[in-house]
Amino acid sequence: MGQPKSLSAIDRQKWIYLSGISGQKPIIPTDLSALEELAKRHLSPEAYAYIAGGAGQGQTIKNNRAGFGKWRIRPSMLNDVSEVNMRISFLGKHYDAPLFLSPVGVLEMAHKDADRAVARACERTGTPYIFSNQASVAMEEVAPLMPNTPKWFQVYWSRSNDLVASLVGRAEDSGCSAIVVTLDTTMLGWRIQDLDLAYLPFLAGKGIAQYTSDPVFQRLVDGYVEELDQDQPPRRLTGQTIKTLLSLMKTYPGTFWNNLRSGRPLKAVRTFTQIYTNPALNWEDLSFLRKQTQLPILLKGILSSQDAQKAVDYGMDGIIVSNHGGRQVDGAVSSIEMLPEVRDTVGPEFPVLLDSGVRCGADMYKAIALGATAVCIGRPYAYGLAIAGEKGVEAVIRNILADFELTMRLSGKRSVQEIISDKLVTD
Ligand code: GLV
Repeated sequence: MGQPKSLSAIDRQKWIYLSGISGQKPIIPTDLSALEELAKRHLSPEAYAYIAGGAGQGQTIKNNRAGFGKWRIRPSMLNDVSEVNMRISFLGKHYDAPLFLSPVGVLEMAHKDADRAVARACERTGTPYIFSNQASVAMEEVAPLMPNTPKWFQVYWSRSNDLVASLVGRAEDSGCSAIVVTLDTTMLGWRIQDLDLAYLPFLAGKGIAQYTSDPVFQRLVDGYVEELDQDQPPRRLTGQTIKTLLSLMKTYPGTFWNNLRSGRPLKAVRTFTQIYTNPALNWEDLSFLRKQTQLPILLKGILSSQDAQKAVDYGMDGIIVSNHGGRQVDGAVSSIEMLPEVRDTVGPEFPVLLDSGVRCGADMYKAIALGATAVCIGRPYAYGLAIAGEKGVEAVIRNILADFELTMRLSGKRSVQEIISDKLVTD
């Protein structure tokens, strides 16, 4: 669309309506909730299940949306909102708007350009991007695509501390300005959509690019010893086995024939499954990470004031209130309902981001009014990517920012600071 980096909400509205005169419709629905329906048609059943799916009955996903509905904005009139400023500052950095892209893994299932497309859209809109530990493209390839835009790295704490240290060191070298540790995935949740398709993308070599590009991981692959596991289903050679293996040989770095000859991709996937999650992770482990990096560390997955207080006590630099988009615990609290007590616990200055369920500008406004320093979106940009690649991601970002800006101005707020002092209405 060739639009400038900053585009006011009014200009975006104008752009869309004027394009309509020549019959052009927006490339994605502006309703971020409706996006999912359209994206479903662009995704394989496995990709849709993995991206859209949640834990168990999906109650947490519903709670996330319902949580926002419990709060209402009370607009204030006659405030001269001709100028508006969405900028925020925290941890010594300035951001154009309080919107980040959450880490979403395995984006190659949505679009072949995967993380690269997202990074380009972030660069064009000035939106910070949290690189996923389960990315489809290694951070060294993605980071240069956003030279002027903040990037963070999200780490999963695997069973290998050496690997954690290596990933964090690479993130520093790639220009990331913060590390996010996801706490809620010490094992995968019971995800019935994926289970019913019996499909986990990592086993097909998808979403493990940060590992396969890592020297420590490659040493782990060298030393891989097969665990004799009685509980595995018998290995059977079927048409599907061959299809999966061929896809793995193609996905893995290096040439198809070398991969086939060496068998290394299979060894890498098996190494990955041995180390991916770490159920033993506990608060004392955080000191290890602190020693590895000078970068700010934020803990993602905090949902209680007790854990928020611990994050402060253990010297962390910020938290992300999140239930992982409802992917881990079915029937869990929504992140928005826990936000006020978390904010009360940590005080007004401590960085508190919020994700899980954010779908519109009003959600952003409410989260900020309830104490969020900034918000993050996940699935919506993956859907935009599935529908229209890089342009789809850009449209998702521009739409939510335009919606947020109009919500601010129409509510009588000229800055994010003014939203913070707003009192929402609830029953
Ligand atoms: C994490 O990798 C997830 O699938 O949510």
